[in-house]
Amino acid sequence: MQLTQSTVGRKIVMAVTGLILISFVLVHLLGNTSVFVGPDGINAYAKGLHDLGPIVWIFRLVMLATFGLHIIFGIQLTLENRAATPSSYAVKKLSRANFASESMIISGLVLLAFVVYHILHFTMHVTNPEISASQLPVDALSRPDVFSMVVLSFQKFIVSLVYVASMVFLFLHVSHGFQSFLQTFGLNNGPSLPVVGKVSKGVALVLLFGYISIPILIIAGIVKI
Ligand code: HEM
Repeated sequence: MQLTQSTVGRKIVMAVTGLILISFVLVHLLGNTSVFVGPDGINAYAKGLHDLGPIVWIFRLVMLATFGLHIIFGIQLTLENRAATPSSYAVKKLSRANFASESMIISGLVLLAFVVYHILHFTMHVTNPEISASQLPVDALSRPDVFSMVVLSFQKFIVSLVYVASMVFLFLHVSHGFQSFLQTFGLNNGPSLPVVGKVSKGVALVLLFGYISIPILIIAGIVKI
């Protein structure tokens, strides 16, 4: 309980849950790049995941709890930060630390909205029922046709635009968040400072270019059915 009642404790929870979420987005990206292999790549990958049955549900619950904790503590830390900041500035200017925390809450809330939309889109097939996997015939090997669902979705310009824009927020969130994670564990000091900044930006860039390459190559007609 001590962990959740002090600012340091809350920062540790943010760092640990943040690391789990970054690991998820890296693994998810790796899985999604199987779309470049074609239906035999991503359909086989999706079937492999669905065949895990109850394990998928245990994983989903753990991820939901992780995401929930990250959001609740993130909001709480931002509110604490705001309360500790004098409201009347002689010159209305945010300090570097405040700017970082304010931009983290904005990019974080955009990502929350994206994840809700994304699950409605690809997992629950609510937003584009006409091209959802449950409506499409299964492929030749009776696997849900995730490949067609992804390609037909991203062929819609507006859908691709929403994903690309959201990935820019993912980049902003991770490039600062990963740095904060390293700082919480004391790795962001002295000579390691420039390296930490570069590593954080590097991880965020891999996520940005990795994810946006999917809608961009589909819109460009390079990946197609
Ligand atoms: C181009 C970008 C992306 C593509 C093509 C993509 C693809 C997919 C697909 C096809 C599914 C459904 C899997 C299935 O039910 O078989 C899915 C689920 C999901 N994706 Fe993504 N994704 C992308 C980006 C992201 C990002 C950036 C995040 C997190 C910030 C994310 C988080 C999730 C989550 C939480 C689920 C639900 C997993 C579940 O059903 O248990 N995705 N994604």
